[in-house]
Amino acid sequence: MLAVVTGASKGIGKATAIKLKDLGYTVVAISRSSPEVGDEKIQVDVSNKEDVFKTVNYLITKFGFIDVLVNNAGFGVYGSFLETDLNEEEYMIKTNLLGPIYFMKAVLPYMVKERKGSIVNIISEAAYVSSPKLLVYSATKAALAHITNGLWAEMRKYGVKVSGIYPGPVKTNFTSHPSFKGVKDSFSKFAVEPEKVANAVVKAIKTGKREIYVPSKLALDPYFLKLSYIMQSITYRVIGKYFG
Ligand SMILES: NC(=O)c1ccc[n+]([C@@H]2O[C@H](COP(=O)([O-])OP(=O)(O)OC[C@H]3O[C@@H](n4cnc5c(N)ncnc54)[C@H](OP(=O)(O)O)[C@@H]3O)[C@@H](O)[C@H]2O)c1
Repeated sequence: MLAVVTGASKGIGKATAIKLKDLGYTVVAISRSSPEVGDEKIQVDVSNKEDVFKTVNYLITKFGFIDVLVNNAGFGVYGSFLETDLNEEEYMIKTNLLGPIYFMKAVLPYMVKERKGSIVNIISEAAYVSSPKLLVYSATKAALAHITNGLWAEMRKYGVKVSGIYPGPVKTNFTSHPSFKGVKDSFSKFAVEPEKVANAVVKAIKTGKREIYVPSKLALDPYFLKLSYIMQSITYRVIGKYFG
């Protein structure tokens, strides 16, 4: 069984690559810098469409099939909307949103043909509740959540599993992006270990559940998400009634 994990040089991706290797998968680790773990280590920038398609073609030729694709590579640009660097944000949109789209477009035709396989997208709670000073990051995650949910429905008839993982704060290198410099860290005391997210990936591969939450240590997150869902449902009903 072959598993491809993007963003596998650090954090959640590295923990996921280790976990899947322990479970007996042949792991392809992908990142811009050289990954330390994985049976096959490939340096690819996921925002580069041609390189993503070339990589998938190479893997299909070499291994025949990709059983699991974990779209994890991503980063956040921190700051108020008026102050953040637009070039950095464009690169973030390409990495967090277009990267997973490129990989899914390249891999799914093979999964559909074989009527099997799992796509697991690492999203974020920020897809549900836009984090202040991480608005564009939140938007990339919300867009990925939309695609993941719709794809889950589209792929059911082909037997391909599609899941989104929604972690709260996780202890990784996420805040090492230069835009976080000097920012007071108020989240790390609630952050969970990346292995918790890796366990959620395994659950997604087994069950094909559409949404899996990985709450913070506060463990209140799922209630807030549910509350947000109810509020949105009410809002959409009202909007639908008056503007629909
Ligand atoms: N940490 C959190 O609190 C948290 C919470 C919810 C969701 N997430 C999501 O979890 C995912 C993993 O983040 P993390 O927290 O584990 O952060 P991390 O420790 O900084 O790891 C990010 C990984 O993505 C890779 N990466 C970044 N841009 C890339 C690109 N353009 N092409 C290829 N690889 C790229 C990095 O490797 P290179 O630099 O070597 O390319 C690294 O391996 C992200 O999608 C993030 O949005 C994180």
